Amino acid sequence: MSTATDQDLEGLLEYLRDSRGFDFTGYKRSTLTRRIQKRMEQVHVDSFATYLDHLQVDPDEFTALFNCILINVTSFFRDEPIWTFLRDDIIPRLLEQKRDDDTVRVWVAGCASGQEAYSLSMLLAEAMGRPAFLARVKIYATDVDEEALDEARQGIYTGDDMKAVPEDLAERYFTSNSTGKFVFDREIRRTVVFGRHDLVQDAPISKIDLLSCRNTLMYFNADIQTKILSNFRFALNPGGFLILGKAEMLFTRVRAFAPVDLKRRVFVPTSDGTGEGFPPAPRAMDPADPDETAQRAAAFEVSPVAQVLVTLDGRLAEANEEARTMLRLSRGDIGRSIGDLELAYRPVELRSRLDEAERSRAPVSVTGVEWVSPGSEPAKLDVRVMPVFARGGALLGMSVVFQDVTRFIELEEELQASHHELETALEELQSTNEELETTNEELQSTNEELETTNEELQSTNEELETMNEELQSTNEELETVNDEARQRTDELSGSNEFLGLVLASIRGGLVVVDRELRIEVWNAQCEDMWGMRAEEVLGQQLPALDIGLPVQELTRPLRDALDGEHSTVEVAATTRKGRSITCQVSFSPLSGPEGMITGALALMEQLEKD
Ligand SMILES: C[S@@+](CC[C@H](N)C(=O)[O-])C[C@H]1O[C@@H](n2cnc3c(N)ncnc32)[C@H](O)[C@@H]1O
Repeated sequence: MSTATDQDLEGLLEYLRDSRGFDFTGYKRSTLTRRIQKRMEQVHVDSFATYLDHLQVDPDEFTALFNCILINVTSFFRDEPIWTFLRDDIIPRLLEQKRDDDTVRVWVAGCASGQEAYSLSMLLAEAMGRPAFLARVKIYATDVDEEALDEARQGIYTGDDMKAVPEDLAERYFTSNSTGKFVFDREIRRTVVFGRHDLVQDAPISKIDLLSCRNTLMYFNADIQTKILSNFRFALNPGGFLILGKAEMLFTRVRAFAPVDLKRRVFVPTSDGTGEGFPPAPRAMDPADPDETAQRAAAFEVSPVAQVLVTLDGRLAEANEEARTMLRLSRGDIGRSIGDLELAYRPVELRSRLDEAERSRAPVSVTGVEWVSPGSEPAKLDVRVMPVFARGGALLGMSVVFQDVTRFIELEEELQASHHELETALEELQSTNEELETTNEELQSTNEELETTNEELQSTNEELETMNEELQSTNEELETVNDEARQRTDELSGSNEFLGLVLASIRGGLVVVDRELRIEVWNAQCEDMWGMRAEEVLGQQLPALDIGLPVQELTRPLRDALDGEHSTVEVAATTRKGRSITCQVSFSPLSGPEGMITGALALMEQLEKD
């Protein structure tokens, strides 16, 4: 990533800290970058700077980003082996340390949607028995994510979530509700206090016996991890246990904890200040045993470590061969006062140390003294002045040992360098391991999102499928209706044909009008008599026609027919061909359903006399 982008990212994090009060600056940049970029893709923004603008104008965006950054992946009894170890080893040890009425305080930091806290509560309830558990245990489960905490407080889980809960525990601690979900035991649930707590900014909870902070530390950089761990050190009672996630290791520089089981990531706080003690003083000689004295003298002489003995009045009582060579002493110097010898001030100022050892009756050491023996390479010596006591405890004199520690110091330096390299490599390994684990969690969360999308697609698919089936059934219904309609149409056209034949077979002209006197039927004989085709007259009022028939004279009898009367009139008329005729017109009412009169019929015939 370019420096400009780095700066933009930092600007974004500072904005979030200063305006929204949430500090992501201690989170690992690799994870942050991936998560923020993921959110940027969702809102179609391609740079941190533009995204900052987006955050500033859209007040809801922070929540969406917050949810994207904080990965809430979790499950019941996540990483099973650790839970077996807790059940069989750690919880019994923890309870052994407690008296029967002591409370047991547990802290689950970074608890997400609660499964880890409930898993622990089930194990503790199993180990202690329900009544004791309810009376003595308090579990604090904390997270920064309020939405996750809300879910945790409800303690309702899906069948998928329940897959990791052993069957016997599921039976004892869960009941299923009407929506097919599983509700955690209300009574046990009340011992778990869920609360918002920011591991970076808030003070730790205290007097904790068991602290589980799993798969959360790995999101922070090394400095913040160290800070949080020092808070955990404060939070834990002596003898309390700290449990981390499987990818999380204490950095080697954190000396506040020692592993109980490194593989399963269980630690205890260390006790402070070890203090370096002196080795026990050499056993006193027994001057009464000549053999022992001779053996000791021989051993003293050939010892590879330079050693001299000094009497209480400051004379050189003995110097072994190594001391004589190293310190340029001769046998003739034995018995001389130390003050007359170079030994008094080289390789170290000796008289004050002799006095101090005599006064304190304890060894006095000077380490890393530089010394060049004749014909040898420069060396480093540890000089140790030790009082020598007789069996009865009386002080006999002083032993001064000059130990060449050159090689030792070199080895120590080499060791320190390798140790340092090892620590760096370990830290890198650790951080790669954590990186892998966070990537894994991100993948898991993406996978969960994909699964949700998949489920949504599947449900959309099912929805489409049901709609399809509904359409198919509507289609079948329509086809039935269609068949019926077709049948009716056939029947109707049959009737129409029949009616047409009837109308055509009548000797006179037949007109049918509705109640408004509009023409509904005009048969072929009418066309022939009056010279107008059916298409021209249908829908027109009969009295308004301009034909050879005096239609106005027909209005009265037509209205009578509409009132239910039958009548016949004779009128003078002129046919299409211009012939004058007498036309007899017979009127009848047209009865519709239920006896209602819906129109009138007029049958016109030319009288024979014409
Ligand atoms: C991957 S989950 C781990 C859940 C559970 N401990 C487990 O191992 O299954 C990490 C949790 O750490 C929380 N978290 C992130 N930053 C935090 C902070 N500063 N303080 C407290 N919790 C934090 C997240 O909200 C998330 O719920």
